Amino acid sequence: MANLPKTLHLITDSYYKMKSVIYKMIFLQKLSSKMRQSHNLKISKINRLTSDAIEIFFLIPENLKSEFEFIAGQYITICEKINNEEVRRAYSLCSNPDSLEVAVGVKKVEGGKMSTFLIDTLKEGDVIGVMKPKGRFILGNQNKVVGICAGSGITPVLSIMKKLHDKSNFTLIYGNKTEDSSMFLDEIKQMNANTHFAYSREKVEGCYNSRIDRNLLLELSEDKTFLQAEAYFICGPGEMIDMTEEFLLEKGVEKSKLHFERFTAKKKKKVKTPTDEGAEIISNIIVILDGEDFEFTLSGKGKTILDAAMEQGADVPFSCKGGVCCTCKAKVIKGKAIMDQNSSLSEDEIEEGFILTCQAHPITENIVVDFDEM
Ligand code: FES
Repeated sequence: MANLPKTLHLITDSYYKMKSVIYKMIFLQKLSSKMRQSHNLKISKINRLTSDAIEIFFLIPENLKSEFEFIAGQYITICEKINNEEVRRAYSLCSNPDSLEVAVGVKKVEGGKMSTFLIDTLKEGDVIGVMKPKGRFILGNQNKVVGICAGSGITPVLSIMKKLHDKSNFTLIYGNKTEDSSMFLDEIKQMNANTHFAYSREKVEGCYNSRIDRNLLLELSEDKTFLQAEAYFICGPGEMIDMTEEFLLEKGVEKSKLHFERFTAKKKKKVKTPTDEGAEIISNIIVILDGEDFEFTLSGKGKTILDAAMEQGADVPFSCKGGVCCTCKAKVIKGKAIMDQNSSLSEDEIEEGFILTCQAHPITENIVVDFDEM
């Protein structure tokens, strides 16, 4: 009995120690969740490319160097509060991964909140939020490569060109309205690549006076080597991508050689979900993010799973919110969801249960969506 106070003291002491460890773990978990979203990076340099386009260089601190290593063709997401609204946009990296520089090319989009902010307001020395590089539009070990791009679609293709050691193996078809509106034109001309420039609004000697269309591709494919590349990287407006894909497949190029990066979603009719016509399903949803559960109910006819999870305070990853970038990818481990749009997940991924949460609505009464399953 004499030892009872001492025993009680030991129990209380261990209880508080345990509690402090648990709090610390929760804190670190929350911190890691925030960390995986964005990092504040300083702008080291801004180059003016055209009257409405710039190149932005980021200063990467030593402790983030490995996190910002990237593969040629990938993108980063810039996050900024603009007029009290959190805006995120994905921008393809245009630098050579071997140069250790992290830079993006930005062209002003009419009415675009982020591009207008970056071009009109951002200054060297400013700090903005940037998510780590992502994306599957990447150069593997191919050497003979064709890049087909229009407008700002040049940015990831330029990174791929820079990465290739023998530039003479690279064929670039680059479409713009005019020479003056073409991003990175001088830099491209200095590379020893096989280039074809097309201008839809002016005649320039030695260049095509058209947009990238079927006739232009037909003319280029008279040179049989054009159809014998190991990989085709196609980036730009959706219509150009669809036309080019159709053309190359028709000419016998294997589908596995075609790589696309869309800036906008494929124009598709909205998929009719069982909840569009039938009774409204109210689903019980559990979202798992960094080991933490967020539980809520959601109507199949209501918000997307991503928006609903954000309302519950989940710091879920997203960028385009248009079904294009794949940043919001998660796995359905119980139940079913259906997507309005999908311009980035493969059929195999869908088969495995992956969804784009920015496009997904529940169609079963219970559903568990795991962001940690990759
Ligand atoms: S946020 Fe880009 S696909 Fe969902």
